[in-house]
Amino acid sequence: MSFTIIEPAQARLNRSELAVPGSNTRFLEKAAQSNADVVFLDLEDSVAPDDKVQARKNVIDAINDLDWSGKQISVRINGLDTHYMYRDVVDVMEQAGHKLDLIMIPKVGTAADVYALDMMCSQIESAMEIKNPIGFELIIETALGMQNMAEIAQVSKRNESLHFGVADYAASTKARTTVIGGPNREYAVLTDPDSEGNRDVHWGDMWHYPISKMVVVARANGLRPIDGPFGDFSDSDGYAAQAMRSSTLGCEGKWAIHPSQIDQANELFSPSADEVTNAKRIIEAMEDAAKSGQGAVALDGRLIDIASIRQAQVLVEKAAQIAGTP
Ligand code: GLV
Ligand code: MG
Repeated sequence: MSFTIIEPAQARLNRSELAVPGSNTRFLEKAAQSNADVVFLDLEDSVAPDDKVQARKNVIDAINDLDWSGKQISVRINGLDTHYMYRDVVDVMEQAGHKLDLIMIPKVGTAADVYALDMMCSQIESAMEIKNPIGFELIIETALGMQNMAEIAQVSKRNESLHFGVADYAASTKARTTVIGGPNREYAVLTDPDSEGNRDVHWGDMWHYPISKMVVVARANGLRPIDGPFGDFSDSDGYAAQAMRSSTLGCEGKWAIHPSQIDQANELFSPSADEVTNAKRIIEAMEDAAKSGQGAVALDGRLIDIASIRQAQVLVEKAAQIAGTP
């Protein structure tokens, strides 16, 4: 290991992150009863400009009046380039900051964006005697944010998670797509012709680079990497495939833009019983190996070594977190 120790952010279960428009009080009530690990009450892009003020009031009332037990609550504020943002932070923090867990900052472009919010939150927490510091969820969804992600991730102790906002990222990079997340048939590789002249088309994953980069930067800074929205909520297989790609790369969870995606995310981002059993067998086999002075042994015909213990512990620790055991 490096001499630099990575300090993990406050641990929170973050398999599913439900997005709820602050303008819709019925959806806010349903969100409080949902199985989502985290719910973000949105003041930004799902709320029309004419509804911004009412949405802010709805969100404050919802945080104060509804029973959110068993889940974490976040508020997605408007962007730093809008005049809504300062009042989002001041009103929500002053009127509901005692019950709020997280603030989600959209379209973060530079470390200074996060620094500015950190300063505002610190002042309000101090003035309002808010005991639990608010954590930050940062959406990486612009070319600027992608470029500056490492500085952004390091700038505040409030930082807890990085989120990939695929729709805004596509717009910012001028990608040729209008869907929200998932694969694109135009991003494909054509194989050379076989002996009969047939060629196969293999779809690629055009989001592989940004999600991989986000996972690396998040993990290097002790933060949770979270995959963002998948817009086609009638395509549960497509959602599952995207979730498994990001989970396999190291993401801890994914947004649910529809309640039907919550249970799916919870299941897909939990290690299966078989995975946990196998991980425990690896740890046991390595404990036996250590007793006989070996650093590497064979298990089920495959080499395992001391790095395998660390891989297995990731799964065992995640299962323990989900079960609520230390
Ligand atoms: C989320 O905010 C996105 O832009 O995908
Ligand atoms: Mg966005």
